[in-house]
Amino acid sequence: MDDFIAGMPKCELHLHIEGTLEPELKMALAERNGVEMPYRTVAEARDAYTFDSLSSFLVGYYESMRVLRTEPDFHDLAHAYLTRAAEQNVRYAEIFFDPQAHTSRGVPFDIVIRGLRRAVMDAERLLGVRAQLIMCFLRDFSAEYAMATLMESLPYREWIVGVGLDSDERGNPPVKFAEVFARARREGYMITAHCDVDQPGTHEHIRQCLEVIGVDRIDHGTNALEDEALTAEIARRGLGFTVCPISNGFVAGDLKAGAVRRMLDLGLRVTVNSDDPAYFGGYVTENVRAVQRELDLTRDEVARLQRNAFEIAWLPRPVKDAYL
Ligand code: ADE
Ligand code: ZN
Repeated sequence: MDDFIAGMPKCELHLHIEGTLEPELKMALAERNGVEMPYRTVAEARDAYTFDSLSSFLVGYYESMRVLRTEPDFHDLAHAYLTRAAEQNVRYAEIFFDPQAHTSRGVPFDIVIRGLRRAVMDAERLLGVRAQLIMCFLRDFSAEYAMATLMESLPYREWIVGVGLDSDERGNPPVKFAEVFARARREGYMITAHCDVDQPGTHEHIRQCLEVIGVDRIDHGTNALEDEALTAEIARRGLGFTVCPISNGFVAGDLKAGAVRRMLDLGLRVTVNSDDPAYFGGYVTENVRAVQRELDLTRDEVARLQRNAFEIAWLPRPVKDAYL
């Protein structure tokens, strides 16, 4: 089974590119850019990647980004991920990036997007991996800053397939960004949003995603299962969920494999993804293996997870049909 999972063609839909910053690259970039780090070796940097909650993770995640400064830095970050994805037989990836985590510390938007875009173009040509970028708004910043970021993205509209919402969910409901998402929709962006596991107000946030924002899918979102009306509406719309088991294990002490089981049984379009693999210690293969073991999934069920992902991918029909 492990070989079957490793070898199958895969699709990754929930992956924060900044969450793929491995300690080796982090230390190399720190040296290249003359950034002082509180550790001297890669081993010490790796030891610092320990968390037990979303907020403790986010502190380390943003702190690490200080090493990302130039266009080549963003290229090298995405290139490293895409190389690894190719090794895991990922054929298609939709990659989140957090521009405000960079513009807020003085790195221009165009530096970020140009570096990522160059890696995406190279990966298709050299690695056989297709990828598209999803721009996330940091929900703990203001709606005005999100709108300004959306405006800043418009010259690069063709390089970005959609927008998302991430970072600290507490006190930052989707409706805070209703106008931003409405404008994003008018600009032709697809829309997703994190509805993290174990968040207060989670059902209300999922309801807002459906009724106010009109999302095209839901990131995490396993709490929806506790509410029959929400689950029924998601099923009626055919929306997908991007579940991240190893990440769930860190932030909630539970892979939420039981939710994956129920979603499969209900015929919901559940997918398995890696979120922030450098921090949580597992790329997509390891995440699929973790769920397969926990649920004793059959090969058909494992294949179903991948087919779901290709089906809900933001690709034109003829392109995705070639993967199915
Ligand atoms: N940003 C990066 N990873 C995240 C996660 N798992 N939840 C919320 N925001 C994030
Ligand atoms: Zn995420």
